Amino acid sequence: MTASQDTLSTVEPAPVVLVTGASSGIGRATAHRLADRGTRLVLAARSRPALEVVAEECRQRGADVLLVPTDVSDEAAVKALVQAAVERFGGLDACVHAAAVVAYGRFEDVPTAVFDQVIRTGVLGTANVSRSALQVFRSQRSGTLVIMGSLLGKISTPYMSSYVATKAAVESLGRVLTIEQRDLDNVHVCVVSPGSVATPVFRQAANYVGRYGRPPPPVVSAERVAVKIVERLDHPRSRTSVGIANPLMIFGFRALPGVFDLLVGPLMRVAGLSRTRVDPHAGNVLTPTHYAEPVRE
Ligand SMILES: NC(=O)c1ccc[n+]([C@@H]2O[C@H](COP(=O)([O-])OP(=O)(O)OC[C@H]3O[C@@H](n4cnc5c(N)ncnc54)[C@H](OP(=O)(O)O)[C@@H]3O)[C@@H](O)[C@H]2O)c1
Repeated sequence: MTASQDTLSTVEPAPVVLVTGASSGIGRATAHRLADRGTRLVLAARSRPALEVVAEECRQRGADVLLVPTDVSDEAAVKALVQAAVERFGGLDACVHAAAVVAYGRFEDVPTAVFDQVIRTGVLGTANVSRSALQVFRSQRSGTLVIMGSLLGKISTPYMSSYVATKAAVESLGRVLTIEQRDLDNVHVCVVSPGSVATPVFRQAANYVGRYGRPPPPVVSAERVAVKIVERLDHPRSRTSVGIANPLMIFGFRALPGVFDLLVGPLMRVAGLSRTRVDPHAGNVLTPTHYAEPVRE
């Protein structure tokens, strides 16, 4: 065997990463970044047409891509997704779980079906994806799970009750999973918790508050969050905050609850809701939009 053949035969295969919520925003930016590194990608979201657009973008960047339309709130579908990944690529190195939906509205104005689906997607979806991924990682004795938390899992804001409840649950679940994997040196669970990120989530959210939502400042880009996510795949760490004001907000919430509760309503109405009026609608909560949203808002 020549030296060059010998080198070729020992080249490590590219890692395999599953990304949920890959058709929009942070998931899509993460898929792009991983594709640039030649990662073998498994992309999931509910809408096949939207996923096909992102899969093509990733192939153009040189990635081998499997797309599997999946509703993360359906446990059987998530099991089939992870199984398809392992069958296609022979294993799974990491999973980035970015799928979520949002509903705006005073708690009692949000229809029960919409509230419940935000919870189902956020909480049960995270449990389904985490369970299937961790079962594979435990059997391989290696793998990294990145779960998207949020600043809103650590503080409370009005007009987003189902999302705030979801993210509080995700932050807690992520912490438990991190602790439970401590017996395996090469299995990691990382929760990445951004503040405001400029993605399409605000426009495609369900809305019963009369005005479109928007990300209150300071706002970071989806690409910036994707950089942090990929950093965690390279260097796992249990908790990562993205957003310069996050520690201040969390401090205010915990140390000055009376002041926080007084200010958060007016601040949300000024900074978190746009002036653009909108009729009540379920957005993408119950059904996907079926077109690929851009990475940015
Ligand atoms: N944007 C922010 O300010 C912000 C801040 C903190 C944390 N986060 C978190 O970051 C993650 C990504 O948010 P984003 O802003 O990028 O959202 P986004 O642009 O709205 O993208 C959401 C993605 O989730 C998918 N999805 C929704 N429901 C699904 C389901 N039941 N099953 C499978 N996929 C589903 C959507 O595709 P389909 O509709 O086709 O399914 C889409 O690909 C979320 O966990 C979010 O909570 C966002």
